[in-house]
Amino acid sequence: MAQQYESLDALSQACLSCTACDLSKQRTHVVPGEGNEKAQVMFIGEGPGYNEDQQGRPFVGQAGKLLDELIASIGMKRSDVFIANVVKCRPPGNRDPMPAEIAACSDWLNEQIRLINPKVIVTLGRYSMAKFMPGDSISKVHGSPRKIGERVVLPVHHPAAALYQQSLKQTLQADFKKIPQLLKEAAKIEEAKPEPKQLGLF
Ligand code: URA
Repeated sequence: MAQQYESLDALSQACLSCTACDLSKQRTHVVPGEGNEKAQVMFIGEGPGYNEDQQGRPFVGQAGKLLDELIASIGMKRSDVFIANVVKCRPPGNRDPMPAEIAACSDWLNEQIRLINPKVIVTLGRYSMAKFMPGDSISKVHGSPRKIGERVVLPVHHPAAALYQQSLKQTLQADFKKIPQLLKEAAKIEEAKPEPKQLGLF
């Protein structure tokens, strides 16, 4: 079984010295992810770009600016949510991450999800969508939430795509608008869970 950590800090600390794949050889900084340890919403992007690699923080470039705007548009702040990536080190020249790199990095992401235990996971772009909905196409499933295990997963386009294709910005805005409602529904399901007493266990 993959290693379990006591906290996100402990995980991030360990992640900083990861050499599980060749991306570790060219990185300036590992970008484990950042945000609220108790976040109800977790965003998962693809991988660090140039700025993220320089700073060791996720989504700090142009795509990050748009992500901040989108988060603000639903009345939330970066400090309310957690932001991570499928791969924690920058693929050289911003190429797509390769399957072996995604596989080598998946224990980190799975453990982050376990520790944070978010109600809603918003996947940004096709690589993080593919983790939960392999074989689906982002252009078809974006904005359609799916219950996966205990959580709701909402696939949306990657904010960087909206920087190149202006019409995608409106699509992203519309898809983000669904997040508050998904959280409300998740809270209702939580409230409706019967107490152990009601099950006659005590
Ligand atoms: N794009 C991503 O997928 N992740 C980042 O952290 C930055 C840009």
